Amino acid sequence: MSQAVDAVEVIATKRDGGQLSNQQIDWVIAAYTRGEVAEEQMSALAMAILLNGMTRAEVFRWTEAMISSGVRMQLAPQALGGRPTTDKHSTGGVGDKITLPLAPLVAACGAAVPQLSGRGLGHTGGTLDKLESIAGWRATLTGDEFMAQLREVGAVICAASDDLAPADKKLYRLRDVTGTVESIPLIASSIMSKKIAEGTGALVLDVKVGSGAFMKDLGRARELAETMVALGTDHGVRTVALLTDMQTPLGLTAGNALEVRESVEVLQGGGPADVVELTLALASEMLEAAGLAGVDPADRLQDGSAMDVWRRMVQAQGGDPDAPLPEARETHSVPAPADGVLVGLDAHAVGVAAWRLGAGRARKEDPVQAGAGVVMHAKPGATVRGGEPLFTLHTDTPERFERAAEVLSAAVVIAPEGSSPDLPPLVLDRVVAR
Ligand code: URA
Repeated sequence: MSQAVDAVEVIATKRDGGQLSNQQIDWVIAAYTRGEVAEEQMSALAMAILLNGMTRAEVFRWTEAMISSGVRMQLAPQALGGRPTTDKHSTGGVGDKITLPLAPLVAACGAAVPQLSGRGLGHTGGTLDKLESIAGWRATLTGDEFMAQLREVGAVICAASDDLAPADKKLYRLRDVTGTVESIPLIASSIMSKKIAEGTGALVLDVKVGSGAFMKDLGRARELAETMVALGTDHGVRTVALLTDMQTPLGLTAGNALEVRESVEVLQGGGPADVVELTLALASEMLEAAGLAGVDPADRLQDGSAMDVWRRMVQAQGGDPDAPLPEARETHSVPAPADGVLVGLDAHAVGVAAWRLGAGRARKEDPVQAGAGVVMHAKPGATVRGGEPLFTLHTDTPERFERAAEVLSAAVVIAPEGSSPDLPPLVLDRVVAR
């Protein structure tokens, strides 16, 4: 049992640029989770961490303490019909529906994918919100249901239970209202405590970079990726990260049911080229990390086996994969302002437009509209004609069209015909353990 430590002393250590001891970290996280460290004390400590950072040893121990605040799941391959576990986490972006085709695809290749996901907040969508647009689908499973589905279907996407890293739930809420979200050690320990507690043996991180992402510049994204890869590795999880572009939205849709439709197209062997490319790149990384590098995920996408797993995965959680997806009551077309080549399509603006149309929420308890969102008719590099549709906006509440169209008007850059945009590759870099 850890000895009582004084909260003010812990805050002062970090305020003065010192290194927190293991005992201080274990105590402060456990006492905060129990309600014995006050919210104002934890806010002061979070701000001191944001300003002064943490060493690798401190972030490791902080993450360890957050994992120990709840349960750590055991997912031995023997309990899963021999399937090794492998998971993916994305730091979030606009139109990022990759988990939907990816989880069944990787399961179709022989791995088990235990994906605990969240709901969206702000301009990026949440995987559970997307799946909840499927009639009957439920996000909450019991522990036994989770294990049975993982063993029999190979993929589960569901909500994390309350006893998984409860310290993080409390701390994340506090950081959200105290301007302390943007600390790399706090982000890394928050994400990794949940992923390590989930029990996966291998993990691939998709760290997004650009206007539609949490990390706007490559340097900070790389630092976050390196911190998370080190944390996973230090905890015995085979972890790699891809840094991927989020200057432009992924695919041609942003919005819950619209993104499910696009994901199903990918599982049918079609879909936008960027969504297919990233799905396959992440699948290859997940399989390699799980020791299944010999399997080609492109084959499983083309031969329909990933689609079969998707259908079984949806049905296992009460969903009807054949039910028509909800559609918004109203649509509105936004035309291209001029002839030329589309050279810029700002991800953040598209995300804000989808959010304003009702696809996202401002506060955790807000409802989302399943059918709301933005359909893009062109991506950078395409030739567009002035007056022809560039976007179609979808919502149940048409009074939202004007504000959504307004943000989109600033999202588009059109260059004279014959121009060729300087587009970054989708996968910008790969970060491995050092
Ligand atoms: N997502 C998380 O889970 N935690 C953070 O701190 C930031 C993003």
